[in-house]
Amino acid sequence: MRVLVIGSGGREHALAWKISQSPLLKKLFCAPGNPGTAQVAENVPINETDITGLSEFAGREKIDLTVVGPELPLTLGIVDEFESQGLRIFGPSKKAAELEGSKIFAKQFMERHRIPTARFKIAETDDQALKIINSGTFGFPLVIKADGPAGGKGAVVCPNMKKAEETIQAIMVKKQFGEGNTRVVIEEFLRGREASFIVISDGTQVQPLVTAMDHKTAYEGDRGPNTGGMGAVSPSPFITKELFMQVSSSIIFPTITRMLEEGRRLRGVLYAGLMLTEQGPKLLEYNCRFGDPETQAQLLRMESDFLEILLSAVFENVLSRKVRWSAKVSGCVVLASGGYPVRYETGKVIEGLDQAEAIPGVTVFQAGTRMEKRMLVTNGGRVLNVCALDTNLAGAMGKAYEAVSAIRFEAMHYRRDIGCEREEAG
Ligand code: AMP
Ligand code: GLY
Repeated sequence: MRVLVIGSGGREHALAWKISQSPLLKKLFCAPGNPGTAQVAENVPINETDITGLSEFAGREKIDLTVVGPELPLTLGIVDEFESQGLRIFGPSKKAAELEGSKIFAKQFMERHRIPTARFKIAETDDQALKIINSGTFGFPLVIKADGPAGGKGAVVCPNMKKAEETIQAIMVKKQFGEGNTRVVIEEFLRGREASFIVISDGTQVQPLVTAMDHKTAYEGDRGPNTGGMGAVSPSPFITKELFMQVSSSIIFPTITRMLEEGRRLRGVLYAGLMLTEQGPKLLEYNCRFGDPETQAQLLRMESDFLEILLSAVFENVLSRKVRWSAKVSGCVVLASGGYPVRYETGKVIEGLDQAEAIPGVTVFQAGTRMEKRMLVTNGGRVLNVCALDTNLAGAMGKAYEAVSAIRFEAMHYRRDIGCEREEAG
C-alpha cells in the first residue's frame, strides 16, 4: 500500500513510525513532515492546509490511504474533498469534525443528548457575555472558550472579574483569537483530575486505544499556562476498569450513535477530554484527531499492525480484529523551547540525540525540528518527544529522563514531573 500522513509534529512522526512497521506498506509519504518523519517516510513539501495540493498529490501518486494528524485540515473539509475524488482517507467529514471545530456546536450537542459536561451559556456579543458573568450564575473561577479553532489556546480559566473582562475583550472585541471567533461559551469551572479517552471509530463501533494521561500546563506541579501537552504516560493511572465502562456508556457510545443519527457519521478518532469530578466523569471537550503527545506514548505500546486498524475504520468494520497492546508502561517527556507556549526563539542547534536514542527502550519522536546546514535545529515550541517503554512507570520515566539528560539545546525547557501522580487541576 501507498500511504500519506499529513502533518509535521511529534504525533505525525509517531503515526508514520508505526505505519512504517506494517507488512502491508509499500511506500510512505509525509506532508510536510519533519526531519524525524524523513527517517521513516519521504517528506513532501505540501502544507497541511493546502487541501487541493494534497488531493492532487494523492491522486497522482496513487495513494491508497491518507491519514490526517492535525485538526485544521479536518475542519477545513479535507475528508470531503478526498472522498469526492474517490481517494481513501482516515478522518471525519467536515460536518463530523464540527465536534472539535465549534465549541458551541459541541456543547449544544452534549446538552441535546444529556452527555455529562460543565453547565454553560453562550454569548453572541460582549454585552451579553458580561451580563452572564455579572449574573453570578457560575461564580469564580469560570471558564471562557472561544467558539472556533484558536490554536489550542481557546479556553481561558478566569479566577476573577478582571481576567474575565480582559478575556472577553481579547476574544470578542480585539479578535485576538481569530477574526471569525466572535462567539463564546462561558461555563462553570470543574474540579478534579483530567484524563484523555481516545478511540478509533468507524461511525458505529469503536476500538478504544489504551488510556493515557497528558500533562497540560507548562510548569511542574500543574502550574503555568496551558500548552498542547508537556508529556504523557500510558496507561493513565486514574482510569480504572469501572471508569472505563462508565465513560464508554455515558460519553463515547452516545456521541457516536447520536452523531450518526444527526447525519454526521464520525469516522476517525474520537478523543474525549475529561474531568474526573466527584460527581463522575464530565466532558470538557471533543477532539476528532489523535492526541499529541498521547499518541506517542500509546503507539509505543501497540503490538498490532496499525495500518490494518486504520483501514478497518475506513472500511467500517473497526471491530474486525483484536488489537494487541503491550502490558508495559510508556512515558513521553516533551522538550520545549524556552518561553513556550508564549514567545520563544527557534534555530537552536540540538545535540545529543544519538546518545539519547542509543538507550535501550528509548524512542525519540521529533516535533519542531528542521535541518539547517546539515545540523538539526529547533523549529517550534515543542521540539522533541523523548519516550520510553518499560515494565513499570518508574522504569519508563527513569529511562526517558536519562535520555533527556543526554540532549541539549539553548533554553531547552521540560517538566521534571511527567508521570507523577499528584497532577491535579484546580
Ligand atoms: P478545552 O480546550 O475545552 O479542552 O480546554 C483546555 C483546558 O482548559 C482543559 O484541558 C482544562 O485544563 C481547562 N478547562 C476547560 N474547561 C474547563 C472547565 N469547565 N473546568 C476546569 N477546567 C477547564
Ligand atoms: N494533548 C492534548 C491534545 O492533543 O489535545
